[in-house]
Amino acid sequence: MTEKKVLIVYGSRFGATEGVAVKIAEIFRDNNVLAEVVDLNEKSNFDNFDDYNGLIIGSSIKIGQWTRHVKNFVRNMRLEIQKFAGPFGFYVCSAYAALDEQYAKVKEEYIPDKLTEFGISIAYYDAFGGIIDFSESSRMGWLEKKIMKLAGTQATGLPVESDYTDLRDWDQIEQFALGFLDLFKA
Ligand SMILES: Cc1cc2nc3c(=O)[nH]c(=O)nc-3n(C[C@H](O)[C@H](O)[C@H](O)COP(=O)(O)O)c2cc1C
Repeated sequence: MTEKKVLIVYGSRFGATEGVAVKIAEIFRDNNVLAEVVDLNEKSNFDNFDDYNGLIIGSSIKIGQWTRHVKNFVRNMRLEIQKFAGPFGFYVCSAYAALDEQYAKVKEEYIPDKLTEFGISIAYYDAFGGIIDFSESSRMGWLEKKIMKLAGTQATGLPVESDYTDLRDWDQIEQFALGFLDLFKA
């Protein structure tokens, strides 16, 4: 069997989506699948995906929105994505995905509902928790911290107890990565 190569592109604001992309790539490499991880902030121009057997897009969620770079990438590449023959996956990192009662709703709202607007259908997708970082070294600005403190945590019951809370479930992320590899066998 020829070696498979997966392109993982992501847009991350506070680091959660980036960390997931790196983890998925690690799992792929452990399973002898090549993974190229690209931060859409740095490179977003692709002519096509002919060099790749699989494609995964990851996005941060802020106020219900993907990052600007993810939006632009999906818009610009929609025809290539529509005709891409290999496995195609999408994930988001969203604080509310960590809440059992919100998970199913945000997973639909933040992935297939948005992709439909670009004429793209998706069969393999998941929503992971995010990072809530109120620390000094946080990538969140003061206003973002304030919004998150007011609306994000108290009202919704997110389990935020310290300055830095990582709501990602690494078992769930591993299952997503391994399940994606299974798509090559299907
Ligand atoms: C200003 C602000 C708004 C946010 N809005 C949402 C939201 O609408 N839904 C949600 O699930 N999480 C929301 N979050 C939490 C982020 O999804 C979480 O921080 C996640 O880690 C973002 O991914 P990233 O770390 O890759 O940027 C928000 C966070 C901030 C700071």
